[in-house]
Amino acid sequence: MICLIVGDKAENGRRSDSRAAGSSKGPEQSSALIHFDDVSRTYVHGRVRALRGVSLRIEHEDYVAVTGPSGSGKSTLLYLASGMDRPDAGTVFFEGVSREKPAEWTRLRATRIGFVFQSFQLIGSLTAAENVELPMLGVIAGERKRRERAAELLERVGLGHRKLHRIGELSGGEAQRVAIARAMANSPSVILADEPTGNLDSRTASQVLDLLEDLHKREKVTLMMVTHDAENAGRAKRIIHIHDGEIVGEESRKEPA
Ligand SMILES: Nc1ncnc2c1ncn2[C@@H]1O[C@H](COP(=O)(O)OP(=O)(O)OP(=O)(O)O)[C@@H](O)[C@H]1O
Ligand SMILES: [Mg+2]
Repeated sequence: MICLIVGDKAENGRRSDSRAAGSSKGPEQSSALIHFDDVSRTYVHGRVRALRGVSLRIEHEDYVAVTGPSGSGKSTLLYLASGMDRPDAGTVFFEGVSREKPAEWTRLRATRIGFVFQSFQLIGSLTAAENVELPMLGVIAGERKRRERAAELLERVGLGHRKLHRIGELSGGEAQRVAIARAMANSPSVILADEPTGNLDSRTASQVLDLLEDLHKREKVTLMMVTHDAENAGRAKRIIHIHDGEIVGEESRKEPA
C-alpha cells in the first residue's frame, strides 16, 4: 500500500518530529540515524540555493528513495548526509553526532557510511580487489585480512571471478557491483547511493537494486538512494520528493498486513 503525504514546502511526514527536536541534542534527534535540522546549502559559485531549510530524519533500517527533477538538490542532500559536504545553515547529525565535530565525523564516514556514486568513482589503474581494499586502510589492520575481506565482498556481489581485473576491463554493471562491494568494505550501517543504476540498462539496474536490497534485508543496512526512475523509487519503503531545494512530499509504503 502506498500512502501519499504531500505538504507545502518541506513537510516530509516527519517534520514535526525533527522540528520538535530543535537544534539541541534531544532524545528523538539522537535516535535517528541521520537527521537534517533546517539545513540549507548555497553554492558560492552562481549563488545557487541548492537546499533550503530541509528537515528530515532517516531512521535505522530505513529504505528511502529520494527523487526529483535534475538540479533539485538530490546529490547535495546525499553529500551532506555523508559528511562529504557541510551546510551553510542548520545542522546534520549522524547518530546524534553533529557534522560540526570533524574528528568524530571522519571516523563515522570511514566506518559507518558507504557511498555509491553514479559514475562509480573507482580507480581505473587498480584491480577490483584493490579498489575494495582501499577504504579498509587505517580501519582493518593486516594486509591479509583486507585481501580476504575484499575477496569475500566481491564473491558476495557475484564478482569473485573478476577480482584481479582492472576497472576498465569490467562492464558498467560489474563496475557498479565493485562500487557496492567497496561501500560495504567496513560494514557500514548505511549505504548512500547516488543514482546507482543511472548508467545501467534496466535488467542490470534491477540486479544492482536486488543486491542493495539483499544487504538491507539480511544485514539491516539502511539504504538512502537517489533515483530518477519511478519504478526503482517504488521499491523503497519511503519516497522523498524534492523540488528546488525543498522537500515537497513523501510517500510511504506499508507492507501488507
Ligand atoms: N559545486 C557547485 N557549484 C555551484 N553550483 C552547484 C554545484 N554543485 C551543484 N550545483 C547546483 O546546485 C543545484 C543542485 O545540484 P544537485 O547536484 O544537488 O542536483 P541533483 O538534483 O542531484 O541533479 P541531477 O539529477 O541532475 O543529478 C543545481 O542547480 C546545480 O547546478
Ligand atoms: Mg545528482
